[in-house]
Amino acid sequence: MTADPYGPLAAFYERVFDPRNGDAGFYAALARREGGPVLDAGCGTGRVARAIAAQGIAVTGYDRSAAMLAEAGRLASAAGPRLSFHRAELESPPGGPFALVVCAADTFLHCVDQAQQLAVLAGWRAVTRPGGALALDVTLPAGPWADWEEGERPWQPLAVWDEADGLRREVSLRWRAEPWRQGRRAWARIEEWTAGGPVRRHEVEVALRLVTGGELRLLLERTGWRVEAEYGDFDAGALGPGSERLVVVARAAG
Ligand SMILES: C[S@@+](CC[C@H](N)C(=O)[O-])C[C@H]1O[C@@H](n2cnc3c(N)ncnc32)[C@H](O)[C@@H]1O
Repeated sequence: MTADPYGPLAAFYERVFDPRNGDAGFYAALARREGGPVLDAGCGTGRVARAIAAQGIAVTGYDRSAAMLAEAGRLASAAGPRLSFHRAELESPPGGPFALVVCAADTFLHCVDQAQQLAVLAGWRAVTRPGGALALDVTLPAGPWADWEEGERPWQPLAVWDEADGLRREVSLRWRAEPWRQGRRAWARIEEWTAGGPVRRHEVEVALRLVTGGELRLLLERTGWRVEAEYGDFDAGALGPGSERLVVVARAAG
C-alpha cells in the first residue's frame, strides 16, 4: 500500500472529494449542541474542523498524513487559535478531555481490522469527558458497495479541471472487493497534462474495511460507548431500506 495515499491528493482533496452532502453542517450542528472542545479524528484538510471552529468552538484535528495536515493549516489560517492540528495515528488521539469526537467521511473504514477498530474507539473514549459524545459516518456495504464480485473494476473518471497555469488534471478511481477481509481496495490515479502532452502520473492505493451497523454497535458497546442515534443521512433521516450511509451518534457510557 502507498505510504501516504493522501499525499498526492492533499492539494486538491476538497475540490475532488468534498461530497457537499451536508456532512460538515451536520457535525457543526452537533458541536453547537454538545459544546467544545471537539476532537476531529482523521481530520484530513480540516473540512469539518473549519465548519465547527467557525462557530467559535475549539477544535483539535489529528491525522497521519503530513500533506493533508499542511493543507489543513493553510486553509485554516483565518480561524486562529480555535483550531489546532497534530500528526498522530487514529488510535493515539492528542489532548483532551473533549466534549465531542467526530470522525467524518469514511475515515473509520481506514482501520484495517477489528483490533484497530477497538483500539481507536477505546482511544477516543479515553479522551472524552463523562457524558461526552462521538459521531462518525461510514458508507455501508449496501447499494454500489454491496458488490462483492471478484476482480478489479475499470478506471472511472472522477474529476477533470484546468489549473490557472495551463496544467490539466484528471483524477480517476478504480477498486476491488476483498470479501475475505470484509474489505475494499481502491486506487486513485492523478494525471497531469500541459498542451505539450502528459507530464506526470501518480497512483495511490488505500485499503478500507467495511462495517455493518450491527457490528459497529457491538464495537462501540465493547469500548465504553452507548449508541444514542443512527441515521441514514446527514438530515437525520431514518436508517432503513435504501440507506447507503450510516451516521452514528454515541454517548460515553458510565
Ligand atoms: C477520507 S479522508 C477524510 C478526511 C476528513 N475526515 C474529511 O472529512 O474530509 C481520510 C483521512 O484519514 C486519515 N487516516 C487514514 N488512516 C489513518 C490513521 N491510521 N491514523 C490517522 N489518520 C488516518 C487520512 O490521512 C485522511 O486524511
